[in-house]
Amino acid sequence: MALVDSCIHHNLQSDIMMIPAIGHYIVNSGGKRFRPLLTLLTARLFAYQGERHIPLSVVVEFIHTASLLHDDVVDSSDQRRGSPSANGVWGNQASVLVGDYLFSRAFQMMVSDGDMAMLKLMSDVTNALAEGEVLQLSRTFHLEMTEAECLEVIERKTAVLFKAASEVGAHAAGQSPKVVAQMAEYGMCLGVAFQLMDDALDYLAETEEAGKPVGHDLEEGKITLPLIHAMQSDAELAARVEEISERGCYEEGDREWVRERVAAQDGTGFTMDRAKDYAQRAIALLPETAEVEVRNLLAELADFSAHRPY
Ligand code: IPE
Ligand code: IPE
Ligand code: MG
Ligand code: MG
Repeated sequence: MALVDSCIHHNLQSDIMMIPAIGHYIVNSGGKRFRPLLTLLTARLFAYQGERHIPLSVVVEFIHTASLLHDDVVDSSDQRRGSPSANGVWGNQASVLVGDYLFSRAFQMMVSDGDMAMLKLMSDVTNALAEGEVLQLSRTFHLEMTEAECLEVIERKTAVLFKAASEVGAHAAGQSPKVVAQMAEYGMCLGVAFQLMDDALDYLAETEEAGKPVGHDLEEGKITLPLIHAMQSDAELAARVEEISERGCYEEGDREWVRERVAAQDGTGFTMDRAKDYAQRAIALLPETAEVEVRNLLAELADFSAHRPY
């Protein structure tokens, strides 16, 4: 991970000063580095001995970082990783443009790596990610949202990148298409668990803990699983959500009232149980024959996705 960090910093260099300034700001503000860790561990699961997994894991983290820069603009979010978001400091234009820079830098790095299969994998993933964000946008305040529709958004906007992170590790380690596909499925299930937990934390966590605004999803028109589940058994909550939707914004007290109601109806518990199911599915996909210590770490990562407090 130390090599990953130095590779990140090396690749943020540009003589256009605003690029390293914003790049370092977001990269140094923390972040769990969960996706690159997944790539490194997956490569190690198959006893990979080379060096390619370092820049490839940075590719994955850059795509993630770019998507966060864009996401905070799209979600009008003023906090990220416990600090003011880049758009809060430099403005929306700078965030969008530096996000574009990171996306294109990631593709330059893949071209240097020189593996067409990797380029195909990552370009498909980036495309799916963009589709996921647009799909979610098109479902703003879609009050009839079903669990299946919710999962469709989650798979595309978030889980695909976790899928890519583990797929890249297995592919770099020269595994057969069957094993690569199995690790891709592991990453996908883990990624669904991760986003379901994120959706639960929006109704459960405090800002200090999350490092980003909480109680914000509904305000942005995002109808997530905790809310869907709670509305099914709480007509008063459903009516209040409809009012918020018609108004297009919160009024005094809405945020806290909705958060309490969603927790009281166990929307959050239900969602976290779903997350745990997906984490279990991920763990079951880990190959038995591989290095036990690394396998256990990958199982822990899946477990963390469904239990994480931040
Ligand atoms: C945030 O991802 C975006 C989601 C998919 C929920 P992370 O929770 O991995 O963000 P950082 O990198 O640790 O800040
Ligand atoms: C996470 O989006 C997925 C992407 C960044 C593409 P969210 O909007 O749900 O995540 P947070 O809560 O802002 O981290
Ligand atoms: Mg978003
Ligand atoms: Mg967001």
